[in-house]
This record gives sequence, C-alpha cells and structure tokens, in this order.
Amino acid sequence: MILRLLCTVGLGLIFLAMTQAAGVKKSAFGKTKAGEPVDLYVLTNANGMEVAITNYGGRVVSLKVPDRTGKFADVVLGFDNFDGYLGNDPYFGALVGRYANRIANGRFTLDGHEYHLAQNDGKNSLHGGLKGFDKRVWRAKDASANGVPAIQLAYLSADGEEGYPGTLTVTVTYTLTAKNELRIDYLATTDKPTVLNLSNHSYFNLAGEGHGDILSHLATIYADRFTPVDATLIPTGELASVAGTPLDFRTETAVGAHINADNEQIELGRGYDHNFVLNRTGGGLYMAARIVEPSSGRVMEVLTTQPGLQFYTGNFLDGTIHGKGGKVYGRRSAFCMETQHFPDSPNKPQFPSVVLNPGRRFTSTTVYRFATSN
Ligand code: BGC
Repeated sequence: MILRLLCTVGLGLIFLAMTQAAGVKKSAFGKTKAGEPVDLYVLTNANGMEVAITNYGGRVVSLKVPDRTGKFADVVLGFDNFDGYLGNDPYFGALVGRYANRIANGRFTLDGHEYHLAQNDGKNSLHGGLKGFDKRVWRAKDASANGVPAIQLAYLSADGEEGYPGTLTVTVTYTLTAKNELRIDYLATTDKPTVLNLSNHSYFNLAGEGHGDILSHLATIYADRFTPVDATLIPTGELASVAGTPLDFRTETAVGAHINADNEQIELGRGYDHNFVLNRTGGGLYMAARIVEPSSGRVMEVLTTQPGLQFYTGNFLDGTIHGKGGKVYGRRSAFCMETQHFPDSPNKPQFPSVVLNPGRRFTSTTVYRFATSN
C-alpha cells in the first residue's frame, strides 16, 4: 500500500517536473553603453528545446535543438556575453528593420517626398541604417499562454528615426511551440505613410554553431524565380527564372554544390546572397525552404506569410569574429534564411508594395520548424 502510494507520488513528481520544464526564465544580460539594462529570456518547451532571446535588438542568442539521437546543440551563431553584441556583430540573431536588406543609394520617394537614409553599406542603406531595430532596447513581457512559452517585444520608433517617416509601433512575439517550432509574429502600425520590411537575421549551422562550414547542408527552396542583383547587391528589378542556374534549389541540393560556380550572380553575391521569390500556395503560412544537416540529421523548415526569402551563406564572415566559447566564425560557417519583402522595394514599383498606411495593420508570421531525419 505504502509502496503504491510512493510510486504514485513519484510518478506524479516526474510528470510535474516534465510539464513544469516548459516556461520562460528571465535574467539580467548586461547594460548598453547608455546604461540601459538588457535582459535575457530563456524559453523552454515541453520537449526540452530551448531558445534564449534578449530584448536588445530582439536577438535570438541561442537555440538548442536535438539531433537524431536526441543530443542537443546550439544551432545559431552569437556571443556568450552581452558585450559581444556591442562590438563587431553582423546582425547575429537580430530583428532587422525598419527596412531589412538594402535600399539603393539610401533614398526613396513616397507620396512625392524624397527621404534620405544613412548610407551604411557603400552607397546603399542596409538593415535600417546606423541604429536599426537590431540595436534598440525593446520592452519585453512574458506572453506565454496555455503552457506554451512566448515573449512579446515592443518598440516605438519615432517619426523620422533613421530618416523614415511616421511613428511606428512594432510588436514581435516569439513563441516556442510544443512542435519544436520557433514562431515569430510581427505586427506594426504607423501614424503616417511609411515603408517597412521586418525580418530576423539568425545565422544557422545545424551541425552546431562553430562546427565548420555549412556547405554539406542540403537545401530546398520553394522558389521558381529570384531577384538578380547588381554589383552593390541591389536588385535589377527583374524576376529571373532559377532554371539552369546555381540558384535552382527546387529539388534538394547541397549548399556547396554550385556555390563557387562560374556564374555572374554567384560572383556578385560572393556565393548566395539573393532574394528568392517564393512560390505562394494560397494565403497564410506556406513552405519557403527546408534544410537538412546530414551528419546530425537536424532538419529546419521555414514557413512564412512573406513573399521573399534572402538566402545568405555567410560570405562576409571572415574569421575575425570569435563567438561563443571563443570559436572562430569563418567564411560560410552559417547561413541565413531571412523571410522578407524584396530588397529595394521602395524604389521598385513592380515589386510587392512595402508601404504601410495609417489605419492599416502590418502583420506577418515566420516559423522555423525543427525535426530530424535518418
Ligand atoms: C545581406 C548580406 C549582408 C548580411 C549581413 C544579409 O541580409 O543580404 O549582404 O552581408 O545581411 O549584414
């Protein structure tokens, strides 16, 4: 009788421990140069998968995902300490905005007014300018519901900030679902017409961050077309077919198979650094890409409501950054799959519109879903 009682209590405790594992834990992460405190939020789901996010730039700092044997590894590049993010940092894990990717010559015209942005990438504007959303401190709160861990980040971008018109109210919710998905929901409103393109700039290596290059990852990108670029990585405006080019990932292909091909677009991108025009399959979330790391069996699927995907193979990483545990992040040691509107859309009327008007709500969702294969 007593034994049975003890067993029941024991099982109950184990069950409690398992279910209690899911949640959000907050701790101090550091202080900005201006002395603003910054926190780290660790979200854990019922399967033990874990994502750490800081409210500095809404950055994904670590993402621990199981391999085919159940062994966890951190699959995103980044730094152990907050100060790393204040130094030489190529947008590791960041929320990028107001405009993800490039705007040609740092200039665009909206309703007859010409707006001028910081030219922080040669003559172009990149990822929102000198102090984009990646370098702002966001307000954060626990947004967990029904035992599913989530945090909501909010940022109020002043009218004229980094040259963009309109007071922009942005919220981004990160949720770690029980299906091993990192879900990102974006919402924005404005008080004046403006342009907007929001994305997340995580650098993935599914073998684990710091584990060599990503050339043997097998990628599928559900896109028949891409936007070719000029020498400064601004789209020419054309939507070109991927057929017969190194950008054809419609069937599973090793990332490294054609990354050094004798091809103008590959040369201009120094590898892959291109926006793919996703094949939409109706409204809502649809599959954008799938990528498999053969040795660990880790699989990542990218689903989105956005029209484009920037596939960037870390061509500008050059070994000068020492990341977590002092690991050297060399060329092509990670890839980014940034869901987005097309680069330079404010100057390309033929591209899907990025204009947000007062009284309208911008919403978008992207899901990074993790699984394993044999
Ligand atoms: C761009 C790259 C750039 C990288 C880091 C990507 O979104 O497409 O050209 O080097 O971000 O800034």
